Amino acid sequence: MERDVIIACDFDSKQKTLEFLDLFKDKKPFVKIGMELYYAEGPSIVKEIKERGHKIFLDLKLHDIPNTVKKAMAVLSRLDVDMCNLHAGGTVPMMKAAIEGLTREDGARPILIAVTQLTSTDEETMKKDLLIDKPLDEVVMHYAKNALDAGLDGVVCSPLESGKVHGVCGENFLTVTPGVRFADGNVGDQKRVTTPKKAKELGSNYIVVGRPITAASDPVEAYERCLNEFLG
Ligand code: C5P
Repeated sequence: MERDVIIACDFDSKQKTLEFLDLFKDKKPFVKIGMELYYAEGPSIVKEIKERGHKIFLDLKLHDIPNTVKKAMAVLSRLDVDMCNLHAGGTVPMMKAAIEGLTREDGARPILIAVTQLTSTDEETMKKDLLIDKPLDEVVMHYAKNALDAGLDGVVCSPLESGKVHGVCGENFLTVTPGVRFADGNVGDQKRVTTPKKAKELGSNYIVVGRPITAASDPVEAYERCLNEFLG
């Protein structure tokens, strides 16, 4: 089973990001680059971190008409990222177009995962603003199934949903899960959290960990603690 710890590099500049990665010396953690850093620094930040030997999850959550997403994904594929994502709300034709755009001439492509409903959207808001009148859980599982049917590799979800997603979409369908905290750590603004050890037990494939590592007094030690708990 494919599993790793991904560090969310939620920094606002290249300088802060590279200073942070320098702490790891010869270790090369899988890192997530989000909108803030990508929009601040552009594609060169991806190339630079890649050249340092890290795997990269580029978290840009694409959502547009199929043709636009296909072309944008072709550009991300040429950047040689290892994982990227989109909104399943763009529907199956958009997700299929994304796969086409991502796939290189030799048939290889980055891992593509879908955001189902954002965790900031609750059932009441979904009903009021999106006119979706079904239980949130049912919507999340339906979107995950759409992602599977379109040929995607997995979804972003809570570790608490990993088991159900695997039940609906199969054990090989990846669950990439934020909301991870150490048992003795600060929860911050995350609502439903699990430890790396618990995320492993629940079947997460990748845990995405930000502040428990980036804000730790010793980030390398915190990263290794995560690895030991999640992979050990
Ligand atoms: O610092 P923390 O560990 O909370 O960071 C979690 C990362 O995962 C952040 O980059 C956050 O934007 C992202 N994320 C999340 N919840 C989601 C989707 C993404 O926390 N549902």
